[in-house]
Formats: sequence, C-alpha cells, structure tokens
Amino acid sequence: MLDHGQAPPLTSEPRKAAHPLLRRKPVEQLVAEGGQGEGGALKRSLTMWQLTMISIGATLGTGIFVVLGEAAPKAGPAVTISFIIAGLTALFSALSYAELAGSVPVSGSSYSYAYATMGELVAWICGWCLILEYGVSVAAVAVGWGQYLNEFLDGTIGVTIPESVSAPLGEGGYINLPALVVVLLAMVFLMRGAKESARINSIMVGVKIVTLLLFIGIGFMGIKSGNYSNFNPLGRDGITAAAGTLFFSYIGFDAASTAGEEAKNPKRDLPRAIMLSLLIVTVLYVLVAFVAVGAMPWQDFEGTEAALAQIMTNVTGHSYWGVVLAAGAVVAIASVVFAVLYGQTRILFAMSRDGLVPKAFGKVNARTGVPRANVVIVGLFCGLLAATIPLGKLADATSIGTLFAFGLVNVAVIILRFTRPDMPRTFKVSLFPLTPVLGFLACGWVMWSLDAVTWQVFGGWMAVGLVIYFLYGIRRSRLATAEPTTTEPAAAEK
Ligand code: ALA
Repeated sequence: MLDHGQAPPLTSEPRKAAHPLLRRKPVEQLVAEGGQGEGGALKRSLTMWQLTMISIGATLGTGIFVVLGEAAPKAGPAVTISFIIAGLTALFSALSYAELAGSVPVSGSSYSYAYATMGELVAWICGWCLILEYGVSVAAVAVGWGQYLNEFLDGTIGVTIPESVSAPLGEGGYINLPALVVVLLAMVFLMRGAKESARINSIMVGVKIVTLLLFIGIGFMGIKSGNYSNFNPLGRDGITAAAGTLFFSYIGFDAASTAGEEAKNPKRDLPRAIMLSLLIVTVLYVLVAFVAVGAMPWQDFEGTEAALAQIMTNVTGHSYWGVVLAAGAVVAIASVVFAVLYGQTRILFAMSRDGLVPKAFGKVNARTGVPRANVVIVGLFCGLLAATIPLGKLADATSIGTLFAFGLVNVAVIILRFTRPDMPRTFKVSLFPLTPVLGFLACGWVMWSLDAVTWQVFGGWMAVGLVIYFLYGIRRSRLATAEPTTTEPAAAEK
C-alpha cells in the first residue's frame, strides 16, 4: 500500500569488511550514484504514464499474439485460468519490485537490489539472469516478429519473405533478416534519447492496446458456447504446464524499474507504473484468451500460426480483419523489442558503473543523455543473435532466468525490511512477509514446471556467467578497486 507518511531520515549501513563475493553496495551509494555515467548523466524526463507505457511496451507482445497459440492446446479453454495463475505469480513479485523500485530507484533493477542486500556474487548472477530476461528475449521476440510480418505482407501485397532470408541456419534458411531489421530499428530510435523513445513507445503501446480491444470486440461475436463445454479437458497438469509457458507473456512488467534514473519522480511513480501495467496487461490477457478459445475450438490452435489473425478472419468472414490484426501484432511485437532493448541497455549501464562489465556500457552522451556505445553494442549483439541463431524455442529459457531474478527480488525485500527497517519506502508490500514468501515460492513452482531441456540451458547459462565473473568482474568491481565512481556518494560509506 502507498505510504506517504513522514519517513525517518536515511542512515547509512555500518560497513564491515566483507568477503569479495559478499561485498554489498549500500542503498545510499546506489541512489547517490543514480544517473551518473562516464562523461555525462542520464536525463530525468519520464512521467508516470510514460513509465507505465514502458512496462506495457516490454510486456504485451509475443506472449499473447504467438505463445497463446502454443499454450491453448496444452490446457484447452482453461488456458484462461493459466493466464490468471501466471499473472498471480507475477503479481507477488511485482509487489516486491514496487517496494524496491520506490526505495532504490536506480536503473539496475533487481541487479541493484541484489547488490544492496545479498552481495556482489548474487547481484552478478541476477544481472546475468536479466541478460536472459532482456537481451536474449529481445532476440527471441524479434524472431516471432517475422511470423506476423509475413501474415501482414501476404494479406496486403500477396508476398511473403522467402524462408532463406527469414529463418536462420538450422531452421531452413540462412539468416533471419526481419529479426535483424526490427532490432536495428529499435536501436536507431533508442539513440534519440529517453524522452523521444518514450513518446515512440507510447504510440506503439496505444496501437497494440487498440488492436487487442478490437480483437476482443470482434472475437466476442464469434464465441460459441460449445467451445467451452469441456472447459478443462487436460486437467490440472495441463493448466500448470500452460501457466509455465504463459509466464513468458508477463515478462517485462518490471521494465519501468530499469528507468529509475530517467524518471521525474521515481520514488512515487515507479511503484505505480509497475502495478498499473501489470493490472492492464492481465485484464487484456484474460479477456483475449477467453474470447480466443470461445471463438475457435482449442484443438484448432495446434499448428495454426498467427492464431488471433485467423480468428478475426474466421469470425468476420473477411481476411481484411486478419490483416488488421496482423498489422497490430507487427507493431506490438516491435514495441516489445524496443522497450526490452531499452531495459537491457540501462541494466548494463548500472553494471558498468559498478565495474562488473566494461566501461563502454557506462559512457553517456552529454547532449542526448543516451549511453550511445551501450545502445549500439546491445543492438548489434541482439540483432546478430536474432538473425543467426534458432531462438524460436528460447521463450522458456528466458522465463526461467526471469523467474530466478524475480525470486531474488522477493528475497531482497525480506532482507531489506530486516536490515534497513528505517529506510523510507513509498510503497510497502502488504501482508509482509507472507507476500514475498509466496512470491518466492510461486517463482520456484513455475520454474519447476518447466522442462528438463530448459533447465539444462539455464544451467549452461549460469556456468558461463560464473566463469565471466571470476575472470573479470571479481577483480574489476569498483568495490574491489576502490576506484572512485563518477559521483561521490555523500551519504554513503561513512
Ligand atoms: N512478455 C513479452 C512478450 O510476450 C516478452 O513478448
């Protein structure tokens, strides 16, 4: 709940010599360094609505337009329940994010929260998971973009992009050009600055919300009650399996927390933006899923590409409406790429300031307030990844990394309540500690429901991350080198 009462003054944490792996960065230091990069500072320009749009922008996309089609055959019409369960799982963690974003409003998101509470190694692991959540998912999402682009091109000018240039090696082609193009476009727009980027993002989010409302309105007219008659054909296991898959569709609600250093009033607005975006997205998902499985028998989702566009065409009898839906999806998925790419650059910005990744990620253009080199490196890397690696199946792998990071945020809330009870909090998780404990357990439960291959990919990812940390971060960390940061944190480290 929002707590606007007078908060006691900040006190800095007592500093003890910690083992390198456990060294923590005091909250005051994190906050005092906020915005500062090498050569310039990020600009504070984002309003509460723009922050909400960033979170919706990063969330609403492939999950509802593509992954729903894969989840419906797993649970039947009860996929609607799966959406609610995945949403509840996200909600517990969203509450924890809201509390921490309101009290530690920096761009590193859960990475920074972990640094303040659990120490450098856990923070690095968390940051490494965020690269799965943001960097790898940008590439995975960009891959899904091509499907709807082809649907749109087919419906308008009757051509589709040949497979040889719209799929990577191993999936029938040589390179996925649409995926590369959408990431590079996002990269170019992100160079314009946070304010302009937020404007572009808000327009795209408006288009995708209207598209889904249109789908709900038109699809509603095509509902046949018989399609719900066997509502839960595959039982509890089906619902759970679909919930695990659909968790991907909620990834991104935390994106506002990566804008902590560019928000006008982060302590007040970040918690609101996180909660509001999750609410809007959940309502849309449940309505879209309910209408979709009511308008098309759940068995027909199997093997149907661009299922929502298909439903529009079936219900109206005009392929025109399918094309409109496909156009909306093209914008929607592009906006996820855009907002998630933004988040990834800001997380790496925070990690670079701490010395855990190279300094290039922390250089800020003094005029635009954009970490330009960072945006270019991330854009090129994600673009190449999307263009050349078969990532279509990576959605679950990004989910498991995200769930791990969310789990850590729930732990961070608990630790900080005990270690810093005096810290001002603009938003407090209700029913503490039950809510973050449930959040942690819910994340573990959804992780558990993911298959063995996903766990293997995750294990491999973590192993690579640990090697990088022990070869690079542990020695380059600013806490290790005592190298002064760009801003001297006044309140910290007394
Ligand atoms: N939640 C994002 C999507 O569904 C990743 O595209």
